[in-house]
Amino acid sequence: MPRTLGVCYYPEHWPEAQWAEDAARMKATGLTWVRIGEFAWSLMEPSPGKYDWDWLDRAVETLGAAGLKVVMGTPTATPPRWLVDAMPDMLPVDAQGRTRGFGSRRHYDFSHLGYREECRRIVRAMGERYGRNPHVAAWQIDNEYDCHDTTLSYSDASHDGFRNWLAQKYQSPDALNRAWGNVFWSMQYDHFDQIALPNLTVTEPNPAHVMDFRRYSSDQVVAFNRVQVDALRPLTDAPLIHNYMGRTLTFDHYKVGADLDIASWDSYPIGFLSDRIEESAKEKQTYLRQGHPDNQAFHHDLYRAVGKGRLWVMEQQPGPVNWAPYNPAPLPGMARLWAWEAFAHGAEAVCYFRWRQAPFAQEQMHAGLLRPDSQPAPALAEAAQVATEIAAMPDLDQAAAPVALIFDYESAWAWDTQPQGADFDMFRLAFAAYRTLRRAGLSVDILPPDTGDLSGYKLVLAPGIMTLSDPLRAALATYDGIALIGPRSDLKSRDMAIPLPMGPALPDTDVTVTLTESLPPSDRIKLQGGGRFRHWFEHLDGTAPVHLSTKDGRPAIMGGDHLRYLAGWPDDATFDGIVGGLCDAAGVPTLRLPDGLRVRDTATRRFFFNYGPKPVTWDGTTIPAAGVHWEARP
Ligand code: GAL
Repeated sequence: MPRTLGVCYYPEHWPEAQWAEDAARMKATGLTWVRIGEFAWSLMEPSPGKYDWDWLDRAVETLGAAGLKVVMGTPTATPPRWLVDAMPDMLPVDAQGRTRGFGSRRHYDFSHLGYREECRRIVRAMGERYGRNPHVAAWQIDNEYDCHDTTLSYSDASHDGFRNWLAQKYQSPDALNRAWGNVFWSMQYDHFDQIALPNLTVTEPNPAHVMDFRRYSSDQVVAFNRVQVDALRPLTDAPLIHNYMGRTLTFDHYKVGADLDIASWDSYPIGFLSDRIEESAKEKQTYLRQGHPDNQAFHHDLYRAVGKGRLWVMEQQPGPVNWAPYNPAPLPGMARLWAWEAFAHGAEAVCYFRWRQAPFAQEQMHAGLLRPDSQPAPALAEAAQVATEIAAMPDLDQAAAPVALIFDYESAWAWDTQPQGADFDMFRLAFAAYRTLRRAGLSVDILPPDTGDLSGYKLVLAPGIMTLSDPLRAALATYDGIALIGPRSDLKSRDMAIPLPMGPALPDTDVTVTLTESLPPSDRIKLQGGGRFRHWFEHLDGTAPVHLSTKDGRPAIMGGDHLRYLAGWPDDATFDGIVGGLCDAAGVPTLRLPDGLRVRDTATRRFFFNYGPKPVTWDGTTIPAAGVHWEARP
């Protein structure tokens, strides 16, 4: 499959006389795709039911005539003012009960059925107009679900929907009371109408109540997305895509992805390092202009799974962004490196955000491929270079990775609901495991929690999975590689209760977690032979063999040849040692990479990415800072 580049473009931001020249420059840069439309509802439908497609027809025609393919965005992340005036209760409400107002974007409540109908209407009208347009070759539905914390809303619409959802799930208040354990603190309900949303309680609400609200809220995102999928499917054969975000766990992306054809995500490596990743100040300084060396890879691998193998980057940072606490410029070369890394991880297309920096409104400090005065910004030449390079490399097939990491959204909600330690976080734990694999030079597949086939992998890690699914448990029972489960895995029922008998219930492996400790940053549990656990430590009991102990003789890893349980959260060096040992035992070759150098294998090539601020030499080849190198796969 050929790899392609694209760009995000807002024809409505520029005089129409400029469109043709913009399109010609995009084409001359080597771009294939141009994404448009996703915020333009107020121009598509200036007043209720009065559509104006003329300008969009001309934009599509101008872009298409230049040889570009259009990704048409549905505009439902920015409902126009008249719609909010007509339907004020469509606005989301925050956990403090305050309505979130009009004047930016994403001002809608996923639960609001009236708003869903309005979305169905505008999307159907767009599908009728552009579904068979030869230039419209893909669709993006909405824009960045959950951006600006919008999955959870505490509105009346949400409250009504939640009570219905509970009634369907439990059928009787008694069943709900039992499942939630409402006898605790006299919290029983006599009928579903008594159940409020789990905000504004005096102290923490029942975690089972919160978990169901998290599940309900995730289901609303799935349902909201499905309305648009159902409206578009009969009207177009082009693939349907959503652009997900980095470190966003509030809804089950696998479930949204099941209804779509491709998963894309919006990659802002430098912004994310600044405001979304726990790292030491020293590391943050080292990677200030490159982004964290594992963050992009993690999300490529995650969204490749969400997209059932089909991945795009819908928005790629081109220069400084406007929204992080600090917004430095990328090192020269990074706009090229990020694109190549995405391709090596299976992306079919990488689209830079945005074509030209806007001189007005909220994002005027956000760089584009062009400056506001239409002169080239630094990333333009890098994009052109990538375009030339990918044209010369038509084959970039993916290969299955030797190792896999199970990643689960429900678990993220569970540990958010009941962290038990202030720094226990699902992304952070999974990312720690993932980074260990990457430091060992491994390519990784991320798998959903209902995976029932592990047979292609020699090593599988499953940290923080609240309840092992039946298919996964069955796959583990016959697995002939090595699976390392834990910490904090299979220790809760789906009702967010401690199972009896206590977990984990690992096939043919007698190990039980009898007590759990969370550790403040000042504390460590030392391990025999060096190394330590941080954040989290579980006391293990059982007859399974002990593979690693704490310095004071308590089990740290227990289990058999194929299935083992890890009792704590290892620090980076310790994780490297544990995973290195498991790779040796499982016959997975590893590499000792210099700091900042990362590797990704495709079917035929090995790619190297130097995220470090200085050149590195690997096997006789010097790779400059922000450099990409590829060679035949060993
Ligand atoms: C994304 C969003 C874009 C733009 C961009 C700026 O989150 O989808 O519309 O706001 O960030 O970095």
